[in-house]
Amino acid sequence: MRQVSTVAELREATATFRRQGDTLAFVPTMGCLHEGHLALVKRAKAEADRVVVSIFVNPSQFGPGEDLTAYPRMEDADCAKLEGAGVDLVFLPTEEALYPPGDQTVVMLSELPQHLCGLARPIHFQGVATVCSKLFNAVGPDVVVFGEKDYQQLQVIRRMVKDLLLPIRVVGVPTVRETDGLALSSRNQYLSPDERAQALSLNQALQAAATLVANGEQDVDRILGALKSRITSSGGQVDYIAVVDSETLESLENLGHEARALVAVQFGGARLIDNIALRPPS
Ligand code: PAJ
Repeated sequence: MRQVSTVAELREATATFRRQGDTLAFVPTMGCLHEGHLALVKRAKAEADRVVVSIFVNPSQFGPGEDLTAYPRMEDADCAKLEGAGVDLVFLPTEEALYPPGDQTVVMLSELPQHLCGLARPIHFQGVATVCSKLFNAVGPDVVVFGEKDYQQLQVIRRMVKDLLLPIRVVGVPTVRETDGLALSSRNQYLSPDERAQALSLNQALQAAATLVANGEQDVDRILGALKSRITSSGGQVDYIAVVDSETLESLENLGHEARALVAVQFGGARLIDNIALRPPS
């Protein structure tokens, strides 16, 4: 596995793969890798001949007072995991490599960020879209792989790739969970044992909502009520609990077709998000 930190080295390495006729899959990450990230790598290997992973804690997607400086960094351990997972190339750029001095270009979506996490984190998706466009331009992948864990981010990337006419296929991978249902997240390490126990309410509430819908419930207020009563009684501080159109993320009143339930809740120092597909009986 090769490790590179400049865009020139990255392009030289991907050009070698291309000369061999190989296709490329790309998995962007911020490091502190866990089994969720490794599931994306596994999927990337199934989608293309070569797999490129980036590790970069992107400052432009963190707002003031968010956990940018506290965000865990462990590049050696991360690279060992990626090597074990059969990754071909790891890109570890410096901030200057991705944001050249005097940089003034951003990528901004008009509507998708106006919902859910975008409301509490106003510059977050602009930062994500900007860094992902830079990374996609630098890597030049055929396929990019993202987790459904960050469902709004996945929709932002799908829309951006479509709008900017990028010749890239976007693949979403289902959320990887602990055996008790907690979604794996680099931020779970901020949880005390009590908060971790409370946080199980997220997946339990989402599963219960999906079962309600599968059994024929179509009234969004009743679904929201069921979600809220389970989650608020857990003791977390709710940011949002929403049932939305799975593509536009706009609120729904009734469930005619597939929708998504999404939640964001603060437990102590950790703001956790989770989501589930709501599928009415066919
Ligand atoms: P990061 O939080 O490191 O996540 C990298 C990728 O791993 C994302 O696509 C995320 O959805 C996926 N992921 C995280 N936890 C997962 C889980 N439990 N199951 C499945 N996939 C999971 O998301 C980012 O970094 C950044 O915003 C980034 C896209 C790299 C841009 O800076």
